[in-house]
Amino acid sequence: MCQDNKPSLRHQGSLLGNERLSDSTHLLTIKAPELAYAARPGQFVQIKTSRYLRRPIGLMSVDREQGLIQLGIRRVGPGSNELCDLAPGIAVDLVGPLGTGFNLGLFGEGACETGPAHLVTVGGGTGLFPLLYLLEEAAGQGIPTTAIAGFRSPAEAILQERMRATAKRCIFASDTGGLDFTGHAGEALTSVLDTWHLRPEQILICACGPAGLLENIALQCLERKIPCQVSLEARMACGIGVCVGCSIPVYCHNGGAETAESETTYERCCYDGPVFPAARIVWPSRGGIW
Ligand SMILES: Cc1cc2nc3c(=O)[nH]c(=O)nc-3n(C[C@H](O)[C@H](O)[C@H](O)COP(=O)(O)OP(=O)(O)OC[C@H]3O[C@@H](n4cnc5c(N)ncnc54)[C@H](O)[C@@H]3O)c2cc1C
Ligand code: FES
Repeated sequence: MCQDNKPSLRHQGSLLGNERLSDSTHLLTIKAPELAYAARPGQFVQIKTSRYLRRPIGLMSVDREQGLIQLGIRRVGPGSNELCDLAPGIAVDLVGPLGTGFNLGLFGEGACETGPAHLVTVGGGTGLFPLLYLLEEAAGQGIPTTAIAGFRSPAEAILQERMRATAKRCIFASDTGGLDFTGHAGEALTSVLDTWHLRPEQILICACGPAGLLENIALQCLERKIPCQVSLEARMACGIGVCVGCSIPVYCHNGGAETAESETTYERCCYDGPVFPAARIVWPSRGGIW
């Protein structure tokens, strides 16, 4: 703790485990009690490596009682390679929890009067990691869940056992077949929504993954009037809202009534997000670039 009793954002964690999930992904388990206590689904940490800038990584799971956090890391370059190669026992320098996460209170108006609300998570690639934490939190709150996870091929499928143990229903999609659904995660979502009898306000969709997948999901939700939150990634520097280097284009007004003429502005992915209402994002097909 700091002297003024404000919780500190900087933590010295201790790496307890480093498990290989696939050829390119690792799962780190870190003891960091204060961080674990303060964290919420959708938030992230900035980890120090030998590189100049810290690397942002979403929280994948948190055990508040044991004071543990888990992070899933994919090898894409020097910083993530270093993190995947860390040896247990080493100290890890973390800043977090950072950002604005998912809001499970944001089902559509009147959801509880019309029946039990249902959370659907849709993710692909490293987007699965923060969604697992959200599913665990929803399970703790007794919210029924469906998890849709997309992979390029069955060989890349990770976290299947853990997601099946956490979500009420799981659909694993693969572009090349061999899993529950053949196609991408957005197409799997369409097939679920087409056969469901829930009213839009009873459903909350939370998504994380590549921008193209998120746009696909967001546009489906806008059309069906289903509340949707998306977790975005942008290249980050400070991670705490100061440098504005991670700004993304958003509509000024919330809700789904935007038109091509709606006024737009920028918000900081690291501070105002990374989770945003999908209806606020100016998606690439509508001219938004980040
Ligand atoms: C909020 C947030 C949460 C994240 N959560 C996770 C996570 O849970 N697990 C995980 O493995 N990764 C996550 N990332 C991405 C991770 O931060 C980057 O992969 C990492 O910083 C790359 O560092 P590097 O030195 O290995 O690669 P670099 O040499 O920096 O980059 C290698 C390649 O990855 C691309 N890249 C790097 N950073 C990003 C980024 N932020 N967005 C899109 N492309 C990028 C580069 O364009 C380049 O092509 C997250 C990013 C953000 C912003
Ligand atoms: S990274 Fe500096 S404001 Fe977001």
